[in-house]
Amino acid sequence: MERIDCDVVIVGAGASGLTAATRLRDAGRSVVVLEARDRAGGRLWTDDVDGAMLEIGGQWVSPDQDALIETLDELGLETYPRYREGVNIYIGPDGELKRFEGEIFPVPPATEQEIVSLIDKLDALVAQIDPDRPWDHPRAKDLDEISFAHWLETQTDDEEARENIGMFIAGAMLTKPAHAFSALQALLMAASAGSFSNLVDADFILDRRVVGGLQQVPLLLAERLGGAVRLGQAVRTLRWHPDAPERGVVAVTDDLEVHAGHVILAVPPILISRISYDPPLPRRQQQLHQHLSMGFVIKVHAVYETPFWREAGLSGTAFSPYELVHEAYDNTNHEDPRGTLVGFVADEEADGVFSLSAEERKARILESMSHYYGEQALHPVVYYESDWGSEEWTRGAYAASFDMGGLARYGADLRTPVGPIHFSCSDMAGKGYQHVDGAIRVGREVADEILAAS
Ligand code: FDA
Repeated sequence: MERIDCDVVIVGAGASGLTAATRLRDAGRSVVVLEARDRAGGRLWTDDVDGAMLEIGGQWVSPDQDALIETLDELGLETYPRYREGVNIYIGPDGELKRFEGEIFPVPPATEQEIVSLIDKLDALVAQIDPDRPWDHPRAKDLDEISFAHWLETQTDDEEARENIGMFIAGAMLTKPAHAFSALQALLMAASAGSFSNLVDADFILDRRVVGGLQQVPLLLAERLGGAVRLGQAVRTLRWHPDAPERGVVAVTDDLEVHAGHVILAVPPILISRISYDPPLPRRQQQLHQHLSMGFVIKVHAVYETPFWREAGLSGTAFSPYELVHEAYDNTNHEDPRGTLVGFVADEEADGVFSLSAEERKARILESMSHYYGEQALHPVVYYESDWGSEEWTRGAYAASFDMGGLARYGADLRTPVGPIHFSCSDMAGKGYQHVDGAIRVGREVADEILAAS
C-alpha cells in the first residue's frame, strides 16, 4: 500500500472535484484527486463511436452559466451555437404532427392560454425561491409535500397543458415522473436556471456546445494537475476522527492510503454511502443520503450521411409528451458534413424500453424519431444509446434529486461539512443545479470553505 500525504484529498475527478482541486492547488495547497474510473470527467464523456464524435454525457452551455463560461475561457475552449434555423415540430395527443416557431407549442387556443398562465404562475413562484436555500421559502414544507403532477392538477383541468409543462421539468430535467418529485423540487430546478421561462426556451437552456466536446473541461483541468490525479482509484474507506477533526482523514483505495487535513467527496450524493466510514458518518448524513435518488434518461444519438431534415426546413427541434422520444434536437458537430440527431427517452419510458432486446429498443426509438423527421430517420449510419444507469460510478442520469418532502427536510444539511469531510457536486448546487455550471460553482465554494478554515 503506497502512502501519500497532502493538504486535501479529493474523491472524484468530475468537473466539481477538479475545479476544487485546481483552486486549492492555485492557493498553494497540496492536493491528490482519487478517481474510480480510468478516465477523468465523470458525467462528461466525449467519445468516438464508430467514427462519430459523440457527447455521451453533458454537452450544452447556456448564456447564464457564467462559472462554466469563465472556465471555458480560462481553458481556451471555443463554443458554437446549436443549429436552430427553420421550424420546430410538435406532436399532440392525437398523433398529429405540427410545425411551429417560437416557444409555445401549437396547441388549441384554450390550451395555449393555460400553458401561458402556468408559465406565468411558475415564474412568479420561482422568483420567490432562492436556489441556494429553497427550504427558506415560507411555503417550502407545503410545496415539498405535494407532487409536481398534483400541483399542476390544482392549477388547471387541461391535461395537454399539464403534460407539456410537466415535461419541461419531469422528462426533460429531473428525468423522473412528475408524480415522483415535489413542487418545491420543481421550483428549485427552474430557479437554478433563472426562471421557468428559461427552461421552456430551448434556445436559452440548450444554447451552445464546445468545439471538440465538453469533456475537454475536466481533461484539461486534470492535465494541469498532472500526477496529482490518480485514475482507477476507487475510494473504499474513509477514516476520520469526529472528536479531533484536526487529525484529518485517511482515504483508502485498493492501492493507496492518502493522509490529508480535509477530504472533498466530489461524487454524486447517492454514491457517498458506497464508501465505508470509520467511524460511521453522523446519523443526519446517513439518513439524508437515503432521500436522494438519480433520475434516469437514455440519450440517443443517430448520425446520418447528411442533416436531411434541414433541407425540409426543419430546425431539428422536436417535442412531444406523447412520444417515446419526448424531445430531440439537431446535434451535428461543429463543421461536420454528417448530420446528427439527439433524442431523449426518460424515466418510466426508459425502464420500458430497457425491458426489450437491444434490437427492439433501437427499432422503437428510431420509429419514434421517424414520427418527427420522417422515414429517413430510421436509417442512421451510427446509432448509440448512453446508458448511465448501468455505470457503477454514476447510476443514473442526469443527476440526483430529493424524494417527496426530502428537500425541505434535509436540503439545508446536504452540503454542510462534517468535521474534515466536505461535499461537492452539481447535484448539490443552487444556481446551475444538475449542470456543469453548478458543479464548478460548488467546487469553487468548497475550496474556499477549506481555505477559510485552514
Ligand atoms: P460527476 O458525476 O461528473 O463526477 C463524480 C466523479 O466521482 C466521477 O468521475 C466518478 O467516477 C467519481 N467517483 C464516484 N465514486 C467514487 C469513489 N468512491 N472513489 C473515487 N471516485 C469516485 N450538464 C450540462 O451542464 N449540460 C448538459 O447538456 C448536460 N447534459 C447531460 C446529459 C447526460 C446524459 C448526463 C449524464 C449529464 C448531463 N449533464 C449536463 C449534467 C452534467 O454532466 C453533470 O451535472 C456534471 O458533469 C456533474 O459533475 P460532478 O463533478 O458534480 O459529478
